[in-house]
Amino acid sequence: MAKVKTTFFCQNCGTQYSKWQGQCTACKEWNIIAEELIQKPEKSDWKTPEKASTKRLSKPLLINEIDTAQEARLNTQDHEFNRVLGGGLVPGSLTLLGGEPGIGKSTLLLQIALKLPYKTLYVSGEESQKQIKMRAERINPNSSNCYILTETKTQNIFRQIEELEPDIVVVDSIQTLHSDYIESSSGSISQIKECTTELIKFAKETATPVILIGHITKDGNIAGPKILEHMVDTVLQFEGDRNHVFRILRANKNRFGSTNELGIYEMQGSGLREVTNPSEILISEKDEALSGNAIAATLEGMRPLMIEVQALVSTAVYGTPQRSATGFNAKRLNMLLAVLEKRAGFRLGAKDVFLNITGGITVDDPAIDLAVVAAILSSNEDEALQSDFCFAAEVGLSGEIRPVQRVEQRILEAEKLGFSTIFVSKYNKISLKNTVIKIQLISKIEDLVDFIV
Ligand code: TYD
Ligand code: MG
Repeated sequence: MAKVKTTFFCQNCGTQYSKWQGQCTACKEWNIIAEELIQKPEKSDWKTPEKASTKRLSKPLLINEIDTAQEARLNTQDHEFNRVLGGGLVPGSLTLLGGEPGIGKSTLLLQIALKLPYKTLYVSGEESQKQIKMRAERINPNSSNCYILTETKTQNIFRQIEELEPDIVVVDSIQTLHSDYIESSSGSISQIKECTTELIKFAKETATPVILIGHITKDGNIAGPKILEHMVDTVLQFEGDRNHVFRILRANKNRFGSTNELGIYEMQGSGLREVTNPSEILISEKDEALSGNAIAATLEGMRPLMIEVQALVSTAVYGTPQRSATGFNAKRLNMLLAVLEKRAGFRLGAKDVFLNITGGITVDDPAIDLAVVAAILSSNEDEALQSDFCFAAEVGLSGEIRPVQRVEQRILEAEKLGFSTIFVSKYNKISLKNTVIKIQLISKIEDLVDFIV
């Protein structure tokens, strides 16, 4: 084997070093120097040279002449996954799936691999073939297309790929892979970069889609260099609260589709179930209306989602009142409380306020504000809201009810689920006709107080 040449580069300013050191002397950044391959041996290609295709020279083409028909996507048989990808897997694309440990990344991809009608190779560096088989038995025991390989060395993986010629490759996880050409251990910046480069080359040359699982760090970023996210075509994030059954799949980056789409799954004993109508599950069943509950018509990506907000307002036992929010921004809660205090005359300063979004999901949509305010008012008065009311508006600092985007879609979802009244901002332009649901337009927080207290 020809000699491999590596050297060390600062990932920030690009200064070259002959050996590793903790701090870059040029830009003073710490822990930024990583080993990189500068000259690969001839065999570093993912294929052995005799089998490697002769390089095609690429020529400039008029944009009108570029044929997109060949971009036919592979249907993964999983509607939620397809939707998030923008319609299926694009041949030759690299998809990175990130998420917290134990959230269900391996389960999701194994489940998809088992369902696929194509020849699939599931490479695992994390679990043994037996372990994977045991998991597969829980999910879908009859699959005739899925091959399992437990291997971490990329050169060996490519050897098996050449033999098997799979249509789709899944790698669990990129952090366990290592390439012979780099000295450093698996999971280091330079290993991740090199292995990903080799996989990209393989994917592009053979038009095989590759899906990688990526670990995330404490602060929620994908472990390894940021450049990893630039290298791949699609970055998916699998998230949820491990103690709840719902899992949300979203695209953080997608070269072949929008990043607005969202996939929702429910973790069951037999794998992940696609949730096609999430609103029905997120709203808890109850016989009588309880105080402190309000329903928000939110949008997650492009999908309307009815979410239940629960608030508990009680007299503060200690000097400083407690404020706690699960699934909702605590700063925003404090802001809404201040608005309520000022505009609606509620003396919340002496009260503890707890807020919870049911289902263990986190909501960013500002349209949930009005439901939060309604839930707090309802708990404060110990007066239940009518259970067929729902809310969709943002609340401003001066207590004004502000319009939200795509309000009509929210109204239609609320109507579909049988709500009688939806509270929205007066400033929203609504051109819906013949709706059964009553659209209650309000402009100030005081208007809401009149309605519900
Ligand atoms: P896993 O896919 O191993 O997570 P990751 O690869 O993201 O680390 O998922 C692990 C969790 O999922 C585990 O705690 C058990 C649970 N699980 C189920 O509830 N039902 C199932 O059918 C399977 C396979 C796993
Ligand atoms: Mg795993």
